[in-house]
Amino acid sequence: MSMQTPWIAPSILSADFARLGEQVDAVLRAGADVVHFDVMDNHYVPNLTIGPLICEALRKYGVQAPIDVHLMVSPVDRIVPDFAAAGATYISFHPEATQHIDRTIELIREHGCKPGLVFNPATPLEYLDYTLEKLDLVLIMSVNPGFGGQKFIPSALRKLAEARARIDQSGRPVRLEIDGGVKVDNIQSIARAGADTFVAGSAIFGSKDYTQTIQAMRAQIASARS
Ligand code: DX5
Ligand code: ZN
Repeated sequence: MSMQTPWIAPSILSADFARLGEQVDAVLRAGADVVHFDVMDNHYVPNLTIGPLICEALRKYGVQAPIDVHLMVSPVDRIVPDFAAAGATYISFHPEATQHIDRTIELIREHGCKPGLVFNPATPLEYLDYTLEKLDLVLIMSVNPGFGGQKFIPSALRKLAEARARIDQSGRPVRLEIDGGVKVDNIQSIARAGADTFVAGSAIFGSKDYTQTIQAMRAQIASARS
């Protein structure tokens, strides 16, 4: 397997927004690799969160880690340049949320960001047939998007394994990310199924000791790989 080094990506959806800068610093100090940034529009998903202003504010605050923007918005294209200007590193979107998937991927790339495609629990991987060669990230949802703190949907493991095979076959360094219901006690089977990038919101921000939680996750991932 051409697997990347594992990345832990705390979802700031579960952070305390009144002190977001400190919370992001705290998880990065605790060993997180990337900041997962959930954008919801009360249209594509039934919830409303944060936009480019907050992304820019985190950069101005001094956050240097990659920011992994997960767009749960429709339309997609209008907001892509704003997130690029706000300092996004990765920009991922749901294929159902845009009219022209290839065009959106190109748009993200043209603006200097790394494109990712996101698969809802019932969305088939066929969307990768003509897109994988242009992607830097494939994100498998293990919950229906919209809220933190939901339960992991087991069929995501099968989908991860299928996505892993496609990525390995492509020979490209595409990250395979899992998002939703990831905890210390299921991350080992998730890693075994082929994920290399692990979003965790409530499991990290809801824990007492971020360092301990992230270390426990890393230990589980390492044991899955050995
Ligand atoms: C759900 C979001 C997730 C969410 C994960 O729509 O995309 O990133 O915050 O939260 P947990 O880890 O609590 O399931
Ligand atoms: Zn997310």
